[in-house]
Amino acid sequence: MILLRVRRQRTGAEKFACILPGAGMKRRQAGKLFPVNNTGPWAEELPQSAEKIYLEERVKILTKYIVQGGTPLCGEVEISGAKNAAVAIIPAALLVDGVCRIENIPQISDVTLCLSILEQLGAGVRTIDRHTVEVDCRRIRSTRTPYDMARRIRASTYFIGALLGRFGQAEVALPGGCNFGGVRPIDQHVKGFTALGSTVAVEGGFIRATAPRDGLKGASIYLDVVSVGATMNIMLASVMARGNTTIENAAKEPHIVDLANFLNSMGANIRGAGTDTIKIRGVEQLRGGNYAIIPDQIEAGTYMAAVAAAGGQVLVKNIIPKHMDCITAKLQECGVEVEEHEDTLLVRRNGPLHKANIKTLPYPGFPTDMQPQLTTVLCLAQGISLVTESVWGNRYRYVDELRRMGASIQVDDKTAVVEGVDHFSGAPIQAPDLRAGAALVIAALAARGRSEISCVHYIERGYENLVEKLRALGANIRAVEEPDEREELGLG
Ligand code: EPZ
Repeated sequence: MILLRVRRQRTGAEKFACILPGAGMKRRQAGKLFPVNNTGPWAEELPQSAEKIYLEERVKILTKYIVQGGTPLCGEVEISGAKNAAVAIIPAALLVDGVCRIENIPQISDVTLCLSILEQLGAGVRTIDRHTVEVDCRRIRSTRTPYDMARRIRASTYFIGALLGRFGQAEVALPGGCNFGGVRPIDQHVKGFTALGSTVAVEGGFIRATAPRDGLKGASIYLDVVSVGATMNIMLASVMARGNTTIENAAKEPHIVDLANFLNSMGANIRGAGTDTIKIRGVEQLRGGNYAIIPDQIEAGTYMAAVAAAGGQVLVKNIIPKHMDCITAKLQECGVEVEEHEDTLLVRRNGPLHKANIKTLPYPGFPTDMQPQLTTVLCLAQGISLVTESVWGNRYRYVDELRRMGASIQVDDKTAVVEGVDHFSGAPIQAPDLRAGAALVIAALAARGRSEISCVHYIERGYENLVEKLRALGANIRAVEEPDEREELGLG
């Protein structure tokens, strides 16, 4: 960690900032500044001579994507490891009393942040290559995650389950993550921890979970809503609890199975992941091992949607076709050709797009994380399509941006009525969150003319080398960097 005292040239205001360490970091992120709350938990780590060591004057650089649309996509794209598996498996390494080697880690900012949190807790994190790290959690010195890091991502909640499961206590900042128009509740996580015997309280912005003196005890937990996060967190907390735990009405997403497979490969005893009943028999200890993360279903689906909107033919490589079924079926209904091979999909769109209706549901239903991208495709389909978002309260914050590009969409509560238009027109647009940002990139690729997409740090939370991968498919897209003119140094 490099700490810097930063002075804004324009206003003269001073702040402390840090450069996040290197594991999994993109070249373009190196040297950029991330804010440190001078009065927060990290302040203790400021060496007394901090002002002397690195006195530099820098301002944060913002990245924008400039897209000249209208070019069909052609070629091959390699899919990276799954973000939503990686951000659970990295905290899960805390449960392992040994060295675990994790392969196929995507190089995205959410992963960099998770690895940095682990390091702050005292874990050894060794970068083996671009997609492989070795994590050693045998000398953890704190069960309190740094406030300013943990509060930025939703996945920081997994540190609660992992720390509680291994050390019997956890203090983690209330999580951030994509804003879908309301509070993202964690009542089901708390219900699970409590059923295992833990006390849970919120104090000073932190969630504090504490196991009883004799440790957590297995329990039967029925989730009131199908929750990915709660299912993962209860698995993490119970893997070393005494006795048996059952999670009923569990989420079944591929990343749930991946977390269970990771834990089992380290010595856990988890059965039923991928069904709605998961049974966990507590074990004494998890030992080290090697594990490779599954390919990212949503990244693959995003490239498929990009081909559907912009046209062309792309071989999507390194995927698990079964995970793609719900997305493949919907795109085929829209008139997109999809040929399935062992670990690739050939996606082609030459003719017109047909209307379709979508309802998002937990896996194996149509994923909410593909809703913005598919809605964007439907904007270009003949006729009227209906989209129903049934997982999140409000995931239509991108609709206003699509309207700037000529889309015709009416949103009424959870339903969007999409009337197909002939084309999008390029425009200056702003990514409101990760998947919505990806949807806007898709719209820009399909549009006539030039688009400028700002706030792309949201997109870079979850897509590895998006610009490079699209350029390799012939897209006319580039990232440009310019100084942040806003007053606040912040990630947004
Ligand atoms: C995960 O979020 C993903 N994030 C999200 O992906 C994804 O949209 C979501 O699952 C649904 O698939 C990660 O894996 C890091 P949930 P999570 O708990 O775990 C309600 C992306 O774009 N709920 O399954 O936070 C909740 O309000 C991100 O990659 C409760 O009521 O989602 C929602 O309506 C964004 N109480 C529904 O359940 C709780 O305690 C599903 O949420 C928890 C959730």
